[in-house]
Amino acid sequence: MKETLQNPSFYSSSEAFRTEMLLHERIWHCVGFVGALLPHKDSFIRVKIVNRDVLVVRNGNIFSAFLNICPHRGGPFTLKDRGKLSTFTCMYHGLNFAKDGKFNVTNSAHEFCENPANYFQLDCLKLTQVPLEICGEAIFLSIQPALRLADQFDNDLLEQLSLLKVDHQYVFSAWTEPFNYKLNYENVNDPLHVPHVHQATFMQMLDYDGHIHKNQKNIDFNPSHSKYLLKDKTTPSISELSGLAFTRIDRDPPWWSNLINDSPNFADDKYINFFLFPGTNLFSVGGTHFGLQRYNPINSEEFIYELSYFLPPMANAFEAAPVLKELFEAELDTIKEDSAILKSVHINMKQIHDPQNQLFHGDYEKKISKLSSYYNYIHSTSPL
Ligand code: FES
Ligand SMILES: [Fe+2]
Repeated sequence: MKETLQNPSFYSSSEAFRTEMLLHERIWHCVGFVGALLPHKDSFIRVKIVNRDVLVVRNGNIFSAFLNICPHRGGPFTLKDRGKLSTFTCMYHGLNFAKDGKFNVTNSAHEFCENPANYFQLDCLKLTQVPLEICGEAIFLSIQPALRLADQFDNDLLEQLSLLKVDHQYVFSAWTEPFNYKLNYENVNDPLHVPHVHQATFMQMLDYDGHIHKNQKNIDFNPSHSKYLLKDKTTPSISELSGLAFTRIDRDPPWWSNLINDSPNFADDKYINFFLFPGTNLFSVGGTHFGLQRYNPINSEEFIYELSYFLPPMANAFEAAPVLKELFEAELDTIKEDSAILKSVHINMKQIHDPQNQLFHGDYEKKISKLSSYYNYIHSTSPL
């Protein structure tokens, strides 16, 4: 206990935000699953990463991603979130590109090149590709990757992730939250908030055993984890900022559990979190449904909360919409409980000018102190 590694200014400083976005451009972001987002050939989805508008495209069984930006004057190819796509036609002046991103055709060739001898210049045009990796069914994107997926996430996590498969029916919603995205990623890595913030909701599903303590004297404080990090100036590796967490759950299996493909890897008594740095929380609730939360930063004081719910592939097909709607609404209630607290934490952080005397880490905050330590590191040096 005692020392803090947290720097309150990192939650509202625009300069800190710019530095963090440079890091975000160089790392991988999980945007969802093939089985739900791109179950059909010749389809696309439109996603946001690091404030970029990206089209992820399925051409047969080949997946690729491009910026939704035409190389002429920045027009978009689509304003839809998903659909069918055989080629990319710019909505602004009609340049057309093939699915490999290379120039295809235009019926305004003479407008672009007055001298037909220069038409070859059109042939050199191409879309800006966004690096893409697939792990099992999970789609990862990066703007300018400076490391491999296997360097950002450890083997256990990628192995477990590669086993997760989803049905094509899913629900998705996105909205803006008025606080720093890091607070949300820290919050999901903070197990102690659950019995306090979600007493009447999420907590009902979990087995939890608290320890009561009151005014005991002469406590021998062992050196805490945060103290250890401070003393040794240890900077965690980036893969330590992600990880798996297993929590026992106590519930009756839902009615559709007999209709889905059972996966022994997502046992029905386990709630499994995949925490994917810098801002994704994927979870399996007893293998009967999966949630994906993405905290997509807009600026230092706002992020887009993207929430999806999926079911596993079905053994006997059924209409999933009513189930997904119900799960989704319950999740929104839980998220509202978090957001109410985190909005307040965000505001309070701005009033803290002497963190060593005003804040501390509990020993249980191993993950949070690693995150704080890593952010201290990237704000004092060039990351990666
Ligand atoms: S901006 Fe795309 S063709 Fe002009
Ligand atoms: Fe929570």
